[in-house]
Amino acid sequence: MKILVTGGAGFIGSAFIRLTMDAHPEFSVVNLDKLTYAGNLENLKTIEGNPRYRFVRADVCDAAAVDAAFVEHRPDAVVHFAAESHVDRSILSPEPVVSTNFMGSFQILEAAKRHRIGRYVHVSTDEVYGSIPEPLDADESYPLIASSPYSSSKAGSDLLALSYAKTFGFPVMVTRASNNYGPYQFPEKLIPLMISNALEDQALPIYGDGMQVRDWLYVDDHCRAIHAVLAKGEPGEVYNVGGSRALANLEVVHRILKITGKPESLMKTVKDRPGHDRRYAITSEKLEKTTGWRAEMDFELGLQSTIEWYVQNRDWVARVKSGSYRDYYERNYTQR
Ligand code: NAD
Ligand code: DAU
Repeated sequence: MKILVTGGAGFIGSAFIRLTMDAHPEFSVVNLDKLTYAGNLENLKTIEGNPRYRFVRADVCDAAAVDAAFVEHRPDAVVHFAAESHVDRSILSPEPVVSTNFMGSFQILEAAKRHRIGRYVHVSTDEVYGSIPEPLDADESYPLIASSPYSSSKAGSDLLALSYAKTFGFPVMVTRASNNYGPYQFPEKLIPLMISNALEDQALPIYGDGMQVRDWLYVDDHCRAIHAVLAKGEPGEVYNVGGSRALANLEVVHRILKITGKPESLMKTVKDRPGHDRRYAITSEKLEKTTGWRAEMDFELGLQSTIEWYVQNRDWVARVKSGSYRDYYERNYTQR
């Protein structure tokens, strides 16, 4: 079975491809990615040369390029990750976010419908539910009350994907995961930013009072959930994917400082994010009952090993921060 993965050079997409190559010999993968600032083919160095893997550089908003990829590679299934994924960037500059997350999702859905793709996973986020008041945990029927341009573009594309199931009988499933962490995450999101700044003795910017709550999910647990939905999900259904590890941001940062042995004086309170959601909390009961999936990684172990990865890969961090990782693409893909 061949899966067309979009956004496979990013943080979660690359983890999904590495997992698929390692644990699913029955699958081959075509990775369609534009290589934005967040897309880095170095993340897939370990599987390069694998005969079950191909890369196509294309923009999901480019209907002709997307169609050409479907014609050339004839995938059986699609897992759609490609997105502008950072909330702060979506506040500073919403246009590429709306364009990729909504119109890009539309182009991939359209091509997949036209080419009669048999299984399709639209990868989404728990942010579509907005801030969840205590003591609730949102299930899949919770209303969509998105707060940022990022989360509203994801909510819009979720509804679009579900409309394809309802209107056209197209076999699409939607997953909504909580905050992922793990290796290869671009150092703009909370955990990798705090780790890389701490390692460089730079200030750790805490938005507002730092008491916002996020539910942390190890990236490989998320990728296993997507495989479970691909195999056992019901078309037209939504599946939450949570890590069952809700923590206030300050608590996460304290743990990072403790593990890295850095002083708390590095923490600096800064202006809060506009429209900042206070608390995310979801239940993954439906996914667990349908597929038997469980989040396996213990947060303390996952954080420890993530920090270890960033310590061992300071050169990767330096390259993605400076943008020089782009040379990797030029060297390996354009000069053959
Ligand atoms: P990321 O920013 O690390 O990677 C995004 C990837 O998409 C990059 O490789 C980028 O080059 C590619 N891309 C962006 N625009 C594109 C376009 N127009 N055409 C083709 N490729 C394009 O993102 P991530 O954190 O890996 O997130 C992947 C998906 O998972 C997103 O849909 C995101 O909404 C969702 N998600 C993320 C999290 C999280 O905590 N990171 C949690 C839940 C859901
Ligand atoms: O919930 C899933 C979502 O998690 C995904 O859909 C998004 O793609 C992903 O980026 C993430 O969104 P968040 O906004 O929750 O993640 P971020 O890492 O940007 O921020 C996590 C929390 O930390 C949030 O409350 C804001 C705070 N924060 C973040 C940064 C970058 C800080 O206090 N300081 C910071 O410098």
